[in-house]
Amino acid sequence: MDKSSYYVTTPIYYVNDKPHIGHAYTTVLADVLARYHRAKGDDTFFLTGTDEHGQKVQKAADANNMTPQQQCDETVVRFQELWKKLGITNDDFIRTTQERHKKIVRAIMQDLYDRDLIYKAEYKGRYCVPCERFFTEKDLAEGGLCPDCGRPTDEIIESNYFFRMSKYQDWLIQYITDHPDFIQPSFRANETLGFLRKPLEDLCISRPKSRLAWGIELPFDSDYVCYVWFDALINYISGIGYGSDEEKFNRFWKSCHHLIGKDILTTHTVYWPTMLKAIGVEMPQSIFAHGWWLVGTTKMSKSLGNVVNPMDMADKYGVDAFRYFLMAGMTLGNDASFTEEEFIARYNSDLANDLGNLLSRVVKLAIKNFDGKLPKPGEFQQLDLELGAKAHQAIDALAGAVNNMKLDKGIDTVMNVVRAGNRYLEQTAPWTLAKNGETERLGTVLYTAAEVLRVVSGLLMPLMPEKMSELRYTLGMTPEEINAFDFDSLRNIGVLTPGTELHDIAALFPRILVEDKAACAKAEPKKQEKKEKAKTVKPKQEEEPLPEGIITIDQFFKVQLKTAKVLTAEPVANTEKLMKMTIEVGEEVRPLVAGIAQFYKPEELIGKTIVVVANLRPAVIRGNESRGMLLAAKNENGLKLVTIDGGDFPSGVSIG
Ligand code: MSP
Repeated sequence: MDKSSYYVTTPIYYVNDKPHIGHAYTTVLADVLARYHRAKGDDTFFLTGTDEHGQKVQKAADANNMTPQQQCDETVVRFQELWKKLGITNDDFIRTTQERHKKIVRAIMQDLYDRDLIYKAEYKGRYCVPCERFFTEKDLAEGGLCPDCGRPTDEIIESNYFFRMSKYQDWLIQYITDHPDFIQPSFRANETLGFLRKPLEDLCISRPKSRLAWGIELPFDSDYVCYVWFDALINYISGIGYGSDEEKFNRFWKSCHHLIGKDILTTHTVYWPTMLKAIGVEMPQSIFAHGWWLVGTTKMSKSLGNVVNPMDMADKYGVDAFRYFLMAGMTLGNDASFTEEEFIARYNSDLANDLGNLLSRVVKLAIKNFDGKLPKPGEFQQLDLELGAKAHQAIDALAGAVNNMKLDKGIDTVMNVVRAGNRYLEQTAPWTLAKNGETERLGTVLYTAAEVLRVVSGLLMPLMPEKMSELRYTLGMTPEEINAFDFDSLRNIGVLTPGTELHDIAALFPRILVEDKAACAKAEPKKQEKKEKAKTVKPKQEEEPLPEGIITIDQFFKVQLKTAKVLTAEPVANTEKLMKMTIEVGEEVRPLVAGIAQFYKPEELIGKTIVVVANLRPAVIRGNESRGMLLAAKNENGLKLVTIDGGDFPSGVSIG
């Protein structure tokens, strides 16, 4: 990648409640990308902030007996404190109640109004309060429910102001088609194009103050405030000087990358591009929609009491370990599962066993045999050169993975180098070299491993800045060298200076004992577990035994069969039978691996509506996660998938 400017944004978060893991995820992701680009020497700007107007905030304020401004001022601190804790290096923090933002929103509205791109009309429709969105009758789900959240909607008739969004429909379809990287992953671009197949309506951008006063007043009608999404989206440009600092705006806007969650796709890929088009601003470079963190396979929700608090996780297990899990544990674009058990398992294997162990072996042996100093290498042998080459290949692999938003793959490549480092120590057996007095060879082995650790720690620096700085300090690097880290320096060979003093530290990632975890596990889930058990253990009754091979209806209903849409498919490398897919099951996107590669080509699968067992325990098949099992009929003539008759049927529908 050449050096250039890089501008990354997170959604601005509602201040109706404290932050949860979903907020932490996008913000850590943006931080890792920003740190990476800074280390590459790119002129980087990272913006996050809070969305402080609208009904959600007003409602929360009412419930807390506060004014909306008090609600904002109290809750914004929760976000700012969390970002400080998680080592987030945002260059600015925008609040939509700040005058610098409101001024720009008003100017944009006035301009659009003056050019007749905003007009007044009577509106009749349905409104979903939690989503703050209007829908026409035909957009509603069955029973008049909100098509997004499934909750009841209210009927509303009122005069409002509208933005002529419909005017840009053809242009937008063409733009998305011509710019395949604009909306990522590509299946989300298809989702937006699917949405645009229906006629696009004009967007209601006002709320009468009589119904909702908490918003930016329209400059041309003081009876109304601006619709919260129209106000919020503008933060991405008001935050970098649009209308106030043109130099700064031009410097960063051209390389803007929006990170969002999949649930706010339409607002970002339909409303926002048409708004920008109307005011004559170029499109951002990319809009990337990531998946959701689930708890196991369940959606996180306050009512289920399973919301993961990022502050607690960071306090309990350390900030960098938490950042590592978030980034390594989610394939960008797909949903992922977060449980404390999964967190601990990955921490112990990747961080404590693999990385921590490699460092402690190298440093302890050097301290013992070379008087606490980094040894001078002798002549390098094949094994040494191979390991060094593997580490250097990981530099380009990581750079490519970051560019293609395949962060988990990039991290995995780096961790493979760490694992290769541990294998290298087993092959070269430095402890035996020490025992036999083969000092020169011992020095070469330890120096080689230390250099690999230097490269690895650099590659993981954007992800775990604190721990990787500690690692580098252990290797004898000075704080100045550590702070001046730049990505390209990783390509240099033999950077560590033999003879420098090493610093022995306590274990970088102390192993988490499962007993510790059990001791501190929250009481809540336990209670729930007990309840579940109580539900399933029925009093013993004398029942007639079932005939062999027969099951009860209750047993059958335990299997959740659901419709699923195949979004992507590719054969698993080095296997004949396995096909790796991403499937959409209602709201959720999951990975699924099945032995169908000899019977179907990827292009024959994409777009098909199939049937899956949705509640099967997740498995890892040849290194690929699989969540669910598809149904197919197979005999000596071949294999045919069970599909849904009649084609275009939604995914996530229960079968039975
Ligand atoms: N205020 C709007 C965004 C305006 S941007 C101009 C908003 N705020 S939010 O606080 O409700 O949500 C912010 C983000 O959190 C969304 O991107 C959403 O996808 C994300 N997440 C909410 N729950 C999540 C998970 N369980 N997992 C991952 N991200 C999730 O929407």
